[in-house]
Amino acid sequence: MPHESTSRTLIVALGVCLVCSILVSTAAVSLHGRQETNRKVEKLRNILAAGDLLTDKSNVEETFKEKVQTYIINLATGEAVPKDKYTDKLNPDAFDIKTMANDPKYGQAIPAKEDIAKIKRMPKYMPVYEVKKDGRIQKVILLVYGKGLWSTMYGLIALGKDLRTVEGFTFYEQGETPGLGGEVDNPRWKALWKGKQAYDKNGRLIIEVIKGKVDKSSPKANSEVDGLSGATLTTRGVNNLVRFWLGADGYNSFLTKLREEG
Ligand SMILES: Cc1cc2nc3c(=O)[nH]c(=O)nc-3n(C[C@H](O)[C@H](O)[C@H](O)COP(=O)(O)O)c2cc1C
Repeated sequence: MPHESTSRTLIVALGVCLVCSILVSTAAVSLHGRQETNRKVEKLRNILAAGDLLTDKSNVEETFKEKVQTYIINLATGEAVPKDKYTDKLNPDAFDIKTMANDPKYGQAIPAKEDIAKIKRMPKYMPVYEVKKDGRIQKVILLVYGKGLWSTMYGLIALGKDLRTVEGFTFYEQGETPGLGGEVDNPRWKALWKGKQAYDKNGRLIIEVIKGKVDKSSPKANSEVDGLSGATLTTRGVNNLVRFWLGADGYNSFLTKLREEG
């Protein structure tokens, strides 16, 4: 074979392709386990962050294990699913909102007029995260999600021991425009939620994200959150998704039950 020929070039190119593809697929397979673990830790980190349970030095998995108990609840009844009824999909480790919402057994369609979060389908069950001290609930952390302007936004809202006061709110997945709707991730905006009343004394849902700034002298000031300027559509989405999930189709049965149980 001559030193430089088309076939030699092709053989070298194919050889390089083969070596590269072996390297890439080996890396993908060998890193899969680590990526899964990282994803799992990231999920726990977000739950702890929403509940204000994380310090710089915290080991995420240990802190979660020590402070948080996870249940799966039936949204319609508000009851926790007994552990012996867990299945391969219906259990806290495997629970995936999108899979469950689309599953004919575990998910359901939402009638259009009730679908203020614009999610079309939802799981019939959801995981809930409880922080307890001496057997009494200190915080409940709940998954919430719904449409913003461009994306479905996935977040976590923490309620305090009265199950009315917001203790924390964060989004762990959203694709709104950075600087506009993406400001839902801004710590200063998220801090505005802390201390707001989600329900009144009679259990009526009162929390609302408004357009503009909250009038501090208004009687509603403690249940209203400032909207994001230049991002009214995302703001409306946040308001709708929070009100959907804290309302009758979401966690209301569960929270009412917990309040009744004292
Ligand atoms: C490129 C581009 C990206 C935008 N991204 C968002 C967004 O993520 N969220 C949002 O609510 N509005 C976004 N807007 C603005 C909306 O179209 C709309 O003007 C805005 O929500 C109105 O808010 P305002 O009433 O507070 O001004 C975007 C506009 C442009 C041109």
